[in-house]
Amino acid sequence: MGGVVISGTGVFTPPNAVSNEQLVESYNAYAENWNADNAEAIASGDAVEKQPSSVPFIEKASGIKSRYMMEGKGAIDVSRMHPNLSEEAPENPVDTPAQVKMAFAAAEKALKEAKLKGEEIDMVIISASVWERFLPSMACELQSMIGAKGFAFDMGMACSSATFGISTACDALQSGMANKALVVTAEYLTPVMDYEDRDSHFIFGDCAVAIVLERETETKSETAFRINDRKLFTEYSPNIQVTFGTRNLLVPEDISDPKYRFKQNGRVVFRELLPKVIDLVNGYLEKNERTVEDYKRFWLHQANINMNIFATKKLLGKEPSQDEAPIILDEYANTAGAGCLIAFDKYKSDFKTGDLGLICSFGASYSIGCFEVERL
Ligand SMILES: CC(C)(COP(=O)(O)OP(=O)(O)OC[C@H]1O[C@@H](n2cnc3c(N)ncnc32)[C@H](O)[C@@H]1OP(=O)(O)O)[C@@H](O)C(=O)NCCC(=O)NCCS
Repeated sequence: MGGVVISGTGVFTPPNAVSNEQLVESYNAYAENWNADNAEAIASGDAVEKQPSSVPFIEKASGIKSRYMMEGKGAIDVSRMHPNLSEEAPENPVDTPAQVKMAFAAAEKALKEAKLKGEEIDMVIISASVWERFLPSMACELQSMIGAKGFAFDMGMACSSATFGISTACDALQSGMANKALVVTAEYLTPVMDYEDRDSHFIFGDCAVAIVLERETETKSETAFRINDRKLFTEYSPNIQVTFGTRNLLVPEDISDPKYRFKQNGRVVFRELLPKVIDLVNGYLEKNERTVEDYKRFWLHQANINMNIFATKKLLGKEPSQDEAPIILDEYANTAGAGCLIAFDKYKSDFKTGDLGLICSFGASYSIGCFEVERL
């Protein structure tokens, strides 16, 4: 049957770039107003004064300098502090969601690179962290939009949504269930952020990345990468949460309570997750009789620059260059499942036949997904 290849990738970047400066300015104005409104409670010890956010802190602690948003005004509007509906969002919620439009835009680019038409695809997955709509299935709508045959479904695994989605598609191709698969990680995350929370108001951006997979023997792509091997891992952790869900329909007065939005114990995540990532990659290398020197590049999850530097330093024994472990989170912020594949899309064109690289996602739940890819 031959191996499975990634024959095309495509990124949809939302139209609104929002800088740290813009976010910090609105947060600080909001905090000042809040402190003035709650001066008595603060004085009596019933409330804690909000401290200002800072651009240097965000850049140093995370490496994030900006992010793209589907709607860029609401979160920096001091009277709102939350994104508005994007222009792409339908008036009638059953009409095509913005998240599907993001997926479609990324899919068109990936199909073009793979030299395929939508009708040649017979498996479509949207794999993402959060959902604009539960039913009808967003992947089925995307399948219909591109004219794909076969079957489609939605799935999710937080920051490993893309790698777990790709792995699911590989299994379907290898078993003969499908011939050509499209996996799209469309991350529309800015609605789940709490822009009144200094610890996390800078973390996420929106973005979609699409991947076309097919058999090596059938591809027409001139830029294909074979997936040589893969490894997935999960271990339950509640340290990264978005708890919004059907519960909010049962307790509707809770619906806009920020406690259901993104929350994390960032330090604990840092401490607990990284050793697991390093163990998994080292185990992978041992099993495949590889060393880190065999790899031209590591396309890592993009949540925090210090995490990426820490992981690659442990693995490579030195601080990585942009060439060895590219960073895109400075421009895109944390895009959950999409991050490592956005890095792959943007930093793969210089690979020559036989060059090897490692794609590795890690994050919420906890989840880790690791693939070795080889340029055909
Ligand atoms: C979230 C993260 C960037 C925070 O960085 P950190 O160095 O751990 O920062 P801390 O939360 O410990 O805060 C350090 C100090 O800065 C302060 N601080 C927090 N947010 C701030 C802000 N926006 N501006 C200024 N200061 C801030 C804190 O109050 C704290 O002050 P204190 O020491 O007086 O208590 C970092 O922990 C992280 O990214 N971890 C990985 C998480 C991850 O990958 N998650 C995956 C999500 S999918």
